[in-house]
Amino acid sequence: MALCFVTRQLPGPALDQLRAAHDVEVWTERLPPPPAELRARGARADGLLTLLSDRVDAELLDHCPRLKAISNYAVGYDNIDLEAATSRGIRVGNTPEVLTDATADLAFALLLAAARMLPQAIESVRVGDWLTWEPGHPLGHEVHGATLGIVGLGRIGRAVAQRAQGFEMTVLHTRTSMSTGEPLELLLEQSDFVSLHCPLTPQTHHLIDRAALAQMRPNAILINTARGQIVDHAALREALTDGTIGGAALDVTDPEPLPAGHPLRSAPNLIVTPHIGSATRVARERMTQLAVDNLLAGLEDRQMPHQVNR
Ligand code: DGY
Repeated sequence: MALCFVTRQLPGPALDQLRAAHDVEVWTERLPPPPAELRARGARADGLLTLLSDRVDAELLDHCPRLKAISNYAVGYDNIDLEAATSRGIRVGNTPEVLTDATADLAFALLLAAARMLPQAIESVRVGDWLTWEPGHPLGHEVHGATLGIVGLGRIGRAVAQRAQGFEMTVLHTRTSMSTGEPLELLLEQSDFVSLHCPLTPQTHHLIDRAALAQMRPNAILINTARGQIVDHAALREALTDGTIGGAALDVTDPEPLPAGHPLRSAPNLIVTPHIGSATRVARERMTQLAVDNLLAGLEDRQMPHQVNR
């Protein structure tokens, strides 16, 4: 029997399968285990089931001599130093596919909400500012027939493109290894909506910086359901404040959560949601199942169903 440390309570029944095979410790707090706690638990563990808010770096791994497998409860695994894990012979798994539709739905919900100014409209009713039917207020942007630029045409990017077809949008996308596409500059210049779906890597860190925002249309809306660090937040605040772009809707920020008083919190025409792209019951329960399947395989020295290293 191996010892597994699961860094949060997870939805669905799949953790019972892990408990049936191994000793399982679950961190039951709402906030992540502090680094010292993660180190202490990791030091005894054969397997870790981590969240994107758990930083798994070389320093932590140095404290985990028994570790054979890390199963990350997310499709993104930028919280894990993959090279450090691989060089220590530790398998790392993620949870793709099961959250594709939920995340694409949220990206589209944000696109619609920002375009049609839903937060402002809802707030106006809440504060008693719905005086009558007004021809000129609030005036949002037309989604039907608009141009959507998708940065990162992976699983989620493709699922967003499918949804855009229903709105008869023109869809542009950046190049992938499998298909041709537009250079980023051209996509930014031509899109009414820009939706980010690339992974966070050294190459995509601050991909959307001041220069990129300046290339966007003045009415354009930026949607980010990928990772906060892909967008330079200081540059975004400026672009929203001086009208370089029309608006933004972010499900991910840097840092998460945005602390009280963070300049972005008071930026105009901005929607922020608390990283809920995959937050449907079905998607999250499937993520639990996949994370458990990955961990069970890794602990038995088998290839994980979704392993991201060799
Ligand atoms: C992921 O899976 O990477 C999301 O950000 C959380 O579901």
